[in-house]
Amino acid sequence: MAKYNRKDPYYHAAKKQGFVARSIFKLEEIDQDFGLIKPKAHVLDLGCSPGSWLQYVERKIGASGGKIVGIDLAPLALSFGHHVQFIQGDIFEVSIDGEFDLVLSDMAPKTSGIKSMDQDRSLVLCERALEIAIQVLKPGGRFCVKVLEGGGLPDFVKACKQVFKDVKIRRPKGTRAGSMETYVIGLGYHKANPIAVA
Ligand SMILES: C[S@@+](CC[C@H](N)C(=O)[O-])C[C@H]1O[C@@H](n2cnc3c(N)ncnc32)[C@H](O)[C@@H]1O
Repeated sequence: MAKYNRKDPYYHAAKKQGFVARSIFKLEEIDQDFGLIKPKAHVLDLGCSPGSWLQYVERKIGASGGKIVGIDLAPLALSFGHHVQFIQGDIFEVSIDGEFDLVLSDMAPKTSGIKSMDQDRSLVLCERALEIAIQVLKPGGRFCVKVLEGGGLPDFVKACKQVFKDVKIRRPKGTRAGSMETYVIGLGYHKANPIAVA
């Protein structure tokens, strides 16, 4: 099994650039590849604590008049300007108002160490993130969600394909060696196609 090194080069780079978590580099890479975050965008960040993705999005769209809403069970590790609204709560319970151009989810369950259990718990969070995306995204909107490889991933991707024009899977370079994490990216949100009746 790959050796886990908490203080790897991404950890040091995040610290040097003032980001509270190394996860920032995963979002940065996906954003550079797919152009997720546009000026003036309204962005919803599910599972946003400690806050490195919020920092990245705020730096990119704050000055353009964009808006960011973050939700997490845990508090943030830093405070943000008026462009960022934080709701501390469970994504199964909070109500989310407004329309968004982009829904991000880096949510992760508490890991049990039992692979199948962790995959199942992660999938439940992904399905909830997709449900929220369907509820709040504007037509043409974008979605980026962390998933665990294996388990129900193929069915989840299929569900995303029902409502996004284009669906990509990307494992950013900043992902730790040995991790099952990967990201599903949905581009061009549209209403689900009606199921064809034979
Ligand atoms: C890997 S961290 C996110 C890191 C974040 N993207 C950043 O850059 O700082 C995963 C987060 O998902 C949150 N989470 C897990 N289940 C949740 C739920 N049901 N509702 C809200 N947040 C949840 C956890 O509290 C945790 O803070």
